[in-house]
Amino acid sequence: MPRPSLLPFLLLPSLSLASPLAQQLATQSCSDTSLSALNWTAKAFDYHSLISLSGSSTSNIQTLGDGYLSFNLSNPALGPSFDQVCTATSTSPDQFFYFDTWFTCLYTPPSTSSNLSPVTANTSAALFRFDKVSGRLEVKQDWECGDGKDPQYPTTVFKGSGGVNVTLDCSVNVWTNPDWNQSLGGLFANQTVECGVVDVSVGLDSLEAMA
Ligand SMILES: *[C@@H]1O[C@H](CO)[C@@H](O)[C@H](O)[C@H]1NC(C)=O
Ligand SMILES: *[C@@H]1O[C@H](CO)[C@@H](O)[C@H](O)[C@H]1NC(C)=O
Ligand SMILES: *[C@@H]1O[C@H](CO)[C@@H](O)[C@H](O)[C@H]1NC(C)=O
Ligand SMILES: *[C@@H]1O[C@H](CO)[C@@H](O)[C@H](O)[C@H]1NC(C)=O
Ligand SMILES: *[C@@H]1O[C@H](CO)[C@@H](O)[C@H](O)[C@H]1NC(C)=O
Ligand SMILES: *[C@@H]1O[C@H](CO)[C@@H](O)[C@H](O)[C@H]1NC(C)=O
Repeated sequence: MPRPSLLPFLLLPSLSLASPLAQQLATQSCSDTSLSALNWTAKAFDYHSLISLSGSSTSNIQTLGDGYLSFNLSNPALGPSFDQVCTATSTSPDQFFYFDTWFTCLYTPPSTSSNLSPVTANTSAALFRFDKVSGRLEVKQDWECGDGKDPQYPTTVFKGSGGVNVTLDCSVNVWTNPDWNQSLGGLFANQTVECGVVDVSVGLDSLEAMA
């Protein structure tokens, strides 16, 4: 069982790295990496949406749509085997994501063996929220490292949170239904928004560690 607050609250907003991060990660343990001002990566960050407009010349136009967001959350302290799949779908008009809902990232235990403690796999839970208008993405994750130097309390629990303002480069396409009949109504246009698939670095703004 984790012992509460042996290491008190740690805030790491602005640690600078002496050497390139990748170099450090090759030799650092889970706990060391966690404490070295890591960034998450939102891999293959993909926002897209589809809005359909229907109606006739005499009725009100109806708008139906879905916004989709997906990425894999990667934490350098845990390594790629512990990436979590973060997805969300929204039907809220008309920007879909408004920062008001925290969505859960799912973790599937790796089939391959790993040198990390199995405890890590079961407890590295993550949440995210997104605001389409500003592009603000925020992430929270709890994870455990089983590599502590004190044999009596080898496990350290980390609680991290942070975020980034994602700049989306979107293309908008409108398809109009050539068979639309004004008096009969029905589907007359679809608007799709695709923003490309990019890897986004997400800064860790606060980190709490408990041994
Ligand atoms: C995201 O994670 C899932 C599940 O582990 C995997 O199937 C998929 O290939 C990953 N995608 C990327 C871009 O890493
Ligand atoms: C238009 O959107 C509807 C869903 O609302 C979809 O079923 C249809 O395939 C779309 N058509 C085109 C040409 O994009
Ligand atoms: C992790 O979760 C799996 C599946 O729920 C379970 O079989 C396993 O015993 C758990 N391991 C630990 C260390 O809790
Ligand atoms: C990120 O976006 C938020 C919300 O629009 C804004 O308040 C904040 O100043 C932005 N931060 C940066 C670093 O641009
Ligand atoms: C639209 O539908 C009405 C009713 O079925 C039909 O009388 C009219 O010819 C149609 N118009 C076109 C342009 O197809
Ligand atoms: C970490 O992410 C922030 C955005 O939240 C970014 O400004 C910074 O450059 C990133 N740092 C690294 C080392 O990638």
